[in-house]
Amino acid sequence: MKLQHKVALVTGSSQGIGLGIARRLAEEGADVVLNSRKEDEQARDAVAQVRALGRRACFIAADVGSVADCRRLVTQAVEQMGRIDILVNNAGIQAHAAFLDADEADYDQVLDVNLRGPFFLCQAFARHLRDSGRGGRIINNSSVHEELPFPNFSSYCASKGGLKMLMRNLAIELAPLGITVNNVAPGAIETPINSELMNEPDKLGQLLDNIPAGRLGQPRDVAGAVAFLASDDAGYVTGTTLVVDGGLLWNYSEQ
Ligand SMILES: NC(=O)c1ccc[n+]([C@@H]2O[C@H](COP(=O)([O-])OP(=O)(O)OC[C@H]3O[C@@H](n4cnc5c(N)ncnc54)[C@H](O)[C@@H]3O)[C@@H](O)[C@H]2O)c1
Repeated sequence: MKLQHKVALVTGSSQGIGLGIARRLAEEGADVVLNSRKEDEQARDAVAQVRALGRRACFIAADVGSVADCRRLVTQAVEQMGRIDILVNNAGIQAHAAFLDADEADYDQVLDVNLRGPFFLCQAFARHLRDSGRGGRIINNSSVHEELPFPNFSSYCASKGGLKMLMRNLAIELAPLGITVNNVAPGAIETPINSELMNEPDKLGQLLDNIPAGRLGQPRDVAGAVAFLASDDAGYVTGTTLVVDGGLLWNYSEQ
């Protein structure tokens, strides 16, 4: 087990990729703090899934779009688990709007959750590590859209592009503290965020034609990459993006 004696905080882990990451890190031996905005049945079930793997797990409700919540999340995670070694900034949202119609509320929501939240979570986490004299791992769940334009999702692309540069900058600033900072960039993964797409066979077919691997990704595909970046094997890997997309990024075209 690669992550024994480690504690991971995974934001947005009540479902989808985040839950897949929480489960995989637990399989590797880590104890896990799960999070989403509210503690509902789904959140309790996610915690139960991690505990069933034999690890300690707790749930902390927090809106990562709020800086105050981000700081409280890190403080409470440390209080409840004793420490955090691995931060996975996974929570993310998207808003569909042509650029000419996009409104301020959508822009604020997407940028707050996808970029401002990770910025201040990284800060609170890095301060915790500095104060405890230990190194650690930051892994951001970005997207192929940190590179690839996505018409009608300009706020999403701006947030993920920003996350790419935040990651590169922090890799340099936090290296002296023994903290590595990397992104995973998923392509099209089968999760609730894509439920509309899953119900549109024509659109789904077009997308699959653009994925050389010939299938959508699964949360476990992304989780495996996160587990690697969180492990000692990746101790000299920092400032990089690991693309997990079945070849989509270099093979994509809008119809
Ligand atoms: N599914 C894909 O195809 C895909 C592709 C590339 C990148 N991603 C990225 O992966 C991440 C997870 O996506 P997913 O597909 O699992 O999405 P999802 O919608 O299935 O899950 C998102 C999770 O984040 C939580 N969340 C949403 N807003 C939050 C907030 N303000 N505070 C705390 N938690 C919040 C939700 O409750 C949920 O647990 C996102 O950052 C997304 O941009 C997804």
